[in-house]
Amino acid sequence: MNTLEAIAKRVSVRKYKSEQISEEALEKIIKAGCAAPMAMARYDSLHITVVQNEDVMKQIMDATAVFVTKAFGEGKSMDFGEKTLIIVSSTPAIVAGMEYANVGCVLENMLLAATDLGIANIIWGACAIAVDQNEELKKMLGIPEGFKPLLCASFGYAEKEEPAKTHNIAVTRV
Ligand SMILES: Cc1cc2nc3c(=O)[nH]c(=O)nc-3n(C[C@H](O)[C@H](O)[C@H](O)COP(=O)(O)O)c2cc1C
Repeated sequence: MNTLEAIAKRVSVRKYKSEQISEEALEKIIKAGCAAPMAMARYDSLHITVVQNEDVMKQIMDATAVFVTKAFGEGKSMDFGEKTLIIVSSTPAIVAGMEYANVGCVLENMLLAATDLGIANIIWGACAIAVDQNEELKKMLGIPEGFKPLLCASFGYAEKEEPAKTHNIAVTRV
């Protein structure tokens, strides 16, 4: 698959099969994330946490469910049944907001690499917020002192193939 095909094919998947992704695929996804551009090349301002342990995953999803219910009300589940979850945390950026841009670059690289490998994915925020609000979970996950979980992404095999979407963003050409 070439790069433009992967970009066009990427789609958010919210229901996963129980099959785990291979170690080899995981390593390629992490490597793609580490190849991302980064403000002032401050690669040490980010931390990547890979979660595959079922008990820990359940604790994260339970905390996420509590957060999602508080934020959006009953009936909105964000437990997608994924077997691999990657959380990206950052220290505060020198220029406010850059940390989110950095994390977005890392995760989008991971998503495109996963799509190229035939691995379904989604980038999302709720789970990172839930982890950030739970000191016990942060400690259990080994998120270093001073780092804040900002976004996460799920990876696995889609329960159902999702068709590619077309999105539009307003463009002004001058
Ligand atoms: C920063 C960010 C946060 C997101 N947070 C969530 C989320 O909490 N829950 C969710 O289901 N999807 C989340 N998404 C996925 C978006 O809903 C999705 O990308 C958007 O609807 C476009 O659809 P597509 O990814 O299938 O093209 C998030 C995406 C981004 C980039």
